[in-house]
Amino acid sequence: MKFANSLIQWYLENKRDLPWRNTTNPYPIWLSEIMLQQTRVAQGLPYFLRFTEAFPTVFDLAKADEEQVLKLWQGLGYYSRARNLHKTAQQIAFELDGNFPSSYKELLKLKGIGEYTAAAIASFAYNENVPVVDGNVFRVLSRYFDVETDIASAGAKKEFTLLASELLPKGKANLFNQAIMEFGALQCVPKNPDCTSCVLNDSCLALQKKKVAQLPVKLKK
Ligand code: ADE
Repeated sequence: MKFANSLIQWYLENKRDLPWRNTTNPYPIWLSEIMLQQTRVAQGLPYFLRFTEAFPTVFDLAKADEEQVLKLWQGLGYYSRARNLHKTAQQIAFELDGNFPSSYKELLKLKGIGEYTAAAIASFAYNENVPVVDGNVFRVLSRYFDVETDIASAGAKKEFTLLASELLPKGKANLFNQAIMEFGALQCVPKNPDCTSCVLNDSCLALQKKKVAQLPVKLKK
């Protein structure tokens, strides 16, 4: 509880003002999450703004030519993301009448939407009690709880998902998930984190054991 409360408090005081956080509309939330895969916020933000300007709704994206979609994607890389995005927009617009699936389970059935993206949309748009688990979450949890599991191993995702779901305060999934990701992006960073200024430094096991630089464990594949 202390973990979640401190994290949320920290988030409310330190979060960046990002456009996809000021909405519960699943469409821009979905766009942002696809764009930010393998892409930093600073790089993805201008693309997000141009995209939502050109395609304000899922119908606009569905009706667009693939060429136009790819053109707006130019420079972001991983073009299969853009093609999947376009196809999934058509599925949502034309097969589901523009209605986004309304739960984690249903979102998972869409093309190009995996566990991470389904959890992000379900929690940010619907506040469903599902944890997000990305690289930030692996790092924050492995350090705070001194978890030495290799994050590249087969069972890691399941283990960290279980831990995150136990920590997630029910009814605050949106806040908690945003908070843990932002904390990993701004405070508990991969290299040389400033633990002296950290709100969790009195209870972080990695810090107590001087293991911050060794966690998370990621063995070469
Ligand atoms: N990276 C991936 N998803 C993000 C989000 N919702 N906010 C900030 N950075 C992110």
